[in-house]
Amino acid sequence: MAEIAVLGHGVVGSGVLEVLYSHRDSITKRAKEEIDVKYILDLRDFPELPYHEKFTKDFNKILQDESIKIVVEVLGGLEPAFSYVKACLEHGKSVVTSNKELVAAKGAELLALAQKNNLNFLFEASVGGGIPIIRPISQCLAANEVSEIAGILNGTTNFILTKMIRERMDFSEALKMAQQLGYAERNPAADVEGDDACRKICILASLSYGTHVYPKDVHTEGISKITLEDVSYAEAWGGVIKLIGQVKTLENGKIQIEVCPMFVSRESQLATVDDVFNGILVRGDATGDVVFYGKGAGKLPTASAVVADIIDCVKHFKARKYLFWEDAREDYVEPYENTFEDVFVRAKAVNSDFALETASRVFGEITRLIRKEEPEGEIGFTVANIQVSKLQKSLESLESAGVSVLNHIKISDF
Ligand code: HSE
Repeated sequence: MAEIAVLGHGVVGSGVLEVLYSHRDSITKRAKEEIDVKYILDLRDFPELPYHEKFTKDFNKILQDESIKIVVEVLGGLEPAFSYVKACLEHGKSVVTSNKELVAAKGAELLALAQKNNLNFLFEASVGGGIPIIRPISQCLAANEVSEIAGILNGTTNFILTKMIRERMDFSEALKMAQQLGYAERNPAADVEGDDACRKICILASLSYGTHVYPKDVHTEGISKITLEDVSYAEAWGGVIKLIGQVKTLENGKIQIEVCPMFVSRESQLATVDDVFNGILVRGDATGDVVFYGKGAGKLPTASAVVADIIDCVKHFKARKYLFWEDAREDYVEPYENTFEDVFVRAKAVNSDFALETASRVFGEITRLIRKEEPEGEIGFTVANIQVSKLQKSLESLESAGVSVLNHIKISDF
């Protein structure tokens, strides 16, 4: 019998209990041992639950219990999760977590600690919820050099953009709907500002390249500035707007990593990933493109990934599952300003001819896009392969010449 403890009985924690109890027989067969939950840590009481006697408010009771070899951390947030997980790894307990804040901020440190103590630290559920992605990247695709990963990694923002594209709902209306449906957190800033997607692409980058990439080193833009006008221009260009987390290797040995809204071509496999679904494209040198698709959040999809890690842990009590990356290397991430991109610009002046002439003078070659019901004075155009520092200067020059820049959006290359 493998006895485990679950830290947190929120959405994911209660889902883990539900999956463990409803699939008890098949899980026992797969783990080759029965798994039982001995403790559930939560500050709240749940007297109505059949397993209410397992609840405790005392983390030390779990830490000091030598029969507990696996601890499942589903509290979310950095503290107290980090202190608890670190203490567990220091006390000979393997840890399974769904906590992306924790892995993105402390992955290198916790993986090193797990390795030192010959324990497992597994986090399949931290990226893509129910979509298998950590294990495929670290095991199934391990023979490849991964040159690029691009993903729709946040279900809330993908739901909002889908409503804007399909139903012409504006951003705030779509956000309200996402909140009413329970997709967005009550405070959805981490979703709409791109921070949630940033944590996830940092975890995937760290795993793929073996070097920790911290969210603070990544250029992050959210979707709150995207308007229905931008959506129409993307359509005129031949695609849709998606919030993308992307990382790729550069010839100079560094990586380029960012999170921002992008124009994505209708031909791209990520263009049809809609609603709350996530999609992750991994470009390997041997496999070519491999795409993962599914529910990136929610109680049972996320719980299923957590339970799969628990089963793996039970099966590997004596042998570590090999997941590891080193701490960050200095200058590993190419500064955003140095990177090159194709970009869409939406601008406005007293009249469209003046706006276009000024844009051509400032940028050199531009390609005009025309949207339905484009008012006089507004223009949309694309610029190919421009360095971000030059783009920023050119946008300033447009403004000084009397052309207001309304928005600019990167154009994807996948
Ligand atoms: N709020 C997140 C999302 C939850 O919408 O994808 C999963 O990380």
